[in-house]
Amino acid sequence: MAKIIDGKAISAQIKEELKEKVAAMKADGIEVTLAVIQVGKDAASSVYVGNKKKACAYIGIRSLAYELEEDTSQEELLALIEDLNGRNDVNGILVQLPLPGHIDEDKVVRAISPRKDVDGFHPQSVGALCIGQKGFVSCTPAGIIQLLKRSGIGIEGKECVVIGRSNIVGKPMALLLLRENGTVTVAHSRTKDLKEVTKRADILIVAVGKPKMITRDYIKEGAVVIDVGIHRNEGNKLCGDVDYEDVLPVCSAITPVPGGVGPMTIAMLMNNCVESAGC
Ligand code: GUN
Repeated sequence: MAKIIDGKAISAQIKEELKEKVAAMKADGIEVTLAVIQVGKDAASSVYVGNKKKACAYIGIRSLAYELEEDTSQEELLALIEDLNGRNDVNGILVQLPLPGHIDEDKVVRAISPRKDVDGFHPQSVGALCIGQKGFVSCTPAGIIQLLKRSGIGIEGKECVVIGRSNIVGKPMALLLLRENGTVTVAHSRTKDLKEVTKRADILIVAVGKPKMITRDYIKEGAVVIDVGIHRNEGNKLCGDVDYEDVLPVCSAITPVPGGVGPMTIAMLMNNCVESAGC
């Protein structure tokens, strides 16, 4: 019977650890502060930002919310980031994406000081990861490493296949698995004979963005399957990129959707915030 990797429980455990750390830091006179900027009122972004603020409150991190109008100019946003970069009482800065079309996201991400880049999106953070130096790591792939480690799943020497090559998930995921001494293959939409590639995987990370695309015929018997996708199906029910019911009997461990990778992203964001305060 496959092990169900419980991301909700593991993220709760991480949040408890961080809560203790933050309390100890407070006792030493160190306060952790995250600035969260949202431009406009995109409904999904509002939910994500709300969840981040809630997690901060739970752990004891101070959050400063900047809810800017949809028509905020790029210059105004850059000026706010510049101000937050210079403030000693702000440790982390997060600009919720996507931004309205008139703002250049790349320019905004680059404006955040790498020392406060708790999302790990700045080119300097990504470059540091690439060459094995210290820096913030993108939260979803960092969370997946924690899911594996805290479930007792070894990475060293394993065949790891990542499907997806986004800057936020696929690429940093591949680099982190490599850092853990996995043998890593990155597959993507142009990969020829995808099943042939994924069937080699001891650990398969799926970030394709297509509901239930990965069925058991992509899976090696006994593989560990990590599902990054989240979608709503016809019945308004949440599902992932993996056909969970179909894959369950052939894998050795799997993350459910919801309750797998999702909760880990915020837990790792909180972890980055605590690290940004110098702990
Ligand atoms: N939009 C969707 N996911 C994220 C995230 O992890 N960070 C930011 N800043 N924006 C997002």
